[in-house]
Amino acid sequence: MTAKTITTTPIDGQKPGTSGLRKKTRVFMGAHYLENFVQAMFDGVGGVEGKVLVVGGDGRFHNDTATQTILAMAAANGASRAIVGQNALLSTPAASNLIRTRKTDGGIILSASHNPGGEDEDFGIKFNMPNGGPAPEGVTNAIFARTKTLDAYHILDAAPVDLSQIGTTRLGEMEVEIVDPVAAYVDLMRDLFDFDAIGRMIAGGLAVRFDAMCAITGPYARAILQDALGAPSGTVTHGTPLPDFGGMHPDPNPTWAHELMDEMMGPNAPGFGAASDGDGDRNMIVGPNCYVSPSDSLAVIAANAHLAPGYKDGLKGVARSMPTSAAVDRVAEALGIDCYETPTGWKFFGNLMDDGRVSLCGEESFGTGSDHVREKDGVWAVLMWLNIMAATGKSVPELMQDHWSRFGRNYYSRHDFEAIETEKADALMSSLRGKLAGLPGQSIGPFVVETADDYAYLDPVDGSRSEQQGVRVVFEGGARFVVRLSGTGTSGATLRLYLERLDTEHLDLEPQAALADVIAAAQDVIGIAAHTGHDAPDVIT
Ligand code: G1P
Ligand code: ZN
Repeated sequence: MTAKTITTTPIDGQKPGTSGLRKKTRVFMGAHYLENFVQAMFDGVGGVEGKVLVVGGDGRFHNDTATQTILAMAAANGASRAIVGQNALLSTPAASNLIRTRKTDGGIILSASHNPGGEDEDFGIKFNMPNGGPAPEGVTNAIFARTKTLDAYHILDAAPVDLSQIGTTRLGEMEVEIVDPVAAYVDLMRDLFDFDAIGRMIAGGLAVRFDAMCAITGPYARAILQDALGAPSGTVTHGTPLPDFGGMHPDPNPTWAHELMDEMMGPNAPGFGAASDGDGDRNMIVGPNCYVSPSDSLAVIAANAHLAPGYKDGLKGVARSMPTSAAVDRVAEALGIDCYETPTGWKFFGNLMDDGRVSLCGEESFGTGSDHVREKDGVWAVLMWLNIMAATGKSVPELMQDHWSRFGRNYYSRHDFEAIETEKADALMSSLRGKLAGLPGQSIGPFVVETADDYAYLDPVDGSRSEQQGVRVVFEGGARFVVRLSGTGTSGATLRLYLERLDTEHLDLEPQAALADVIAAAQDVIGIAAHTGHDAPDVIT
């Protein structure tokens, strides 16, 4: 076994965002591409000599091959140990947990999250720091800069490691520890939630449906819901991770998790339904005939988290991304705790959690989590809901009705316009930015614009400033819309339009109807169809 140094040329790597580098799988499969980026990651974090790294991914196509390459490169770069999920599998929250509890120097997670998988779909890779959270911008910038100058990488010329056997083996000088990807995560969930009470509720007749969408959470959900909590087999559907996710688009929203939605809205709906995404960090919660919007889910969890043993002393504070509805703000106010507003993306929450300012956070994009790890966590959110139901004896619809009667209802929706030509999307944004100064005071439909700006954030922990994080237009009375371009797509641009209106009187409207005036006002200001030719959103959540 010898370490080789391969000379290479810089790659055309896009600047990795906090969700890492995402590209078509075939790009990653191209000669030296993955290798160059991995070497740039190692160099960008100051080298891996003597370090301990966690490695694993969501099981999508190329996950296993890429893991072997990463291990051979970690060994050649002098890493002392790699902790790898059996068969190279680890959900993103489970990887974050291992990075933290094993006190490692970080980890490499292979995933393109909720994007489809397969040879012609998406692949991704990211570096997480010793705190278990995604690399901050300083580090991703260093990695990107390195991709531009790299002229060689180091790799061990060795046979692939057998990753199917739990135990410790060697790759050159590096120890490779292959661990059960599920066990440590189940222990963590047991510490946080009242498994006995949830188990009794399930034994008492609550039917649960968890759609793993042929992605990573299948084994986790089976171990917890079926094996530990006693739900019958079949509770977890699409429970085997497949390289192409069985052709499913593993994004837990009403559009893509339509099988679950059909069942939950049908006559024989189980009492509780949920789904998670490709790498297990997102969640969707549904009751019988009762879809819970992620913003509402965050608010309900904030109001009830103290019912779960791991949160019995209450929350330190909460945080939400700017486009997420203000439902949680109202709860925080009632609880007398701080509520932070941050730009889209999980990294901003990490700083607040490391600094002890918040213990719960979430985004409208089906991401909820707490300071138990430094990623959002789909299965965690499901258990939190089940724990709240067990402790209150209330169903999902009852919990929602109670919540809205107490706090009012923040009607909320997001409209996504996908695969827009990048130039057109950029032109739309700059034209919109150009209009902002003139908007305050203007009447648009039934509304009068109160403020209009391009959201910027000053991180209270590290003092960093993030500009252009979404255009927001707030009307008198608090209704608002927000527009931003997605940072996670891999083809063209995706425009996201976020819509919100608080109503304290009418609690049972259909959200699109409740928001019709806001939608019309937003279209009036932005002119999406005129700019892009897209008359209607592709996905509504
Ligand atoms: C999307 C979501 C965002 C989330 C990110 C990673 O990013 O909107 O809330 O943090 O995925 O899961 P976007 O494509 O909007 O940049
Ligand atoms: Zn994800």
